Amino acid sequence: MKIKLYPDSILRKRAGNIKDKDIQKLSKAMLTTMITNRGIGLAGPQVGLSKNIAIISPQTSQELNSHLVLINPEIIEVSGESEYEEGCLSVYGISGKVKRNSDIVVETGLPGERKIIKAEGLLATVIQHEIDHLNGILFPDRMVFPKRAWNLLKSRIKRKKDGKA
Ligand code: CO
Repeated sequence: MKIKLYPDSILRKRAGNIKDKDIQKLSKAMLTTMITNRGIGLAGPQVGLSKNIAIISPQTSQELNSHLVLINPEIIEVSGESEYEEGCLSVYGISGKVKRNSDIVVETGLPGERKIIKAEGLLATVIQHEIDHLNGILFPDRMVFPKRAWNLLKSRIKRKKDGKA
């Protein structure tokens, strides 16, 4: 699958709920895409799929021994605060510090088989970053100076287009 890059409009669309028949094949393809691109998380809209699905790498927590698949995820509890330097496969060219909740509780899964996941630290940050993607929100929106971040990125994209590296 190909990674959609900012300013692709699909990254700003709210994703729709996913049905069971889509999940197996999709999550496999998304996992491969995430690994190939050395990401630690990947959400549906990033591969052109406006669906509420996201993959999280086990590199985000010592408590994970394989990747997580989030299906129609919903954050139901938050507490604490933490700050990480974030980047994004779809927002190529900048990174920046983002404050998020340090501890979260997430409900995920198809109707009738929903389960609860508790997460902290980097895993909590990555889950919040990916759920943001499902709502059309990109990490620079959450930086202290979003306008500055977006302007920097826009000027870099423009320079690249003009062939000035
Ligand atoms: Co991202």
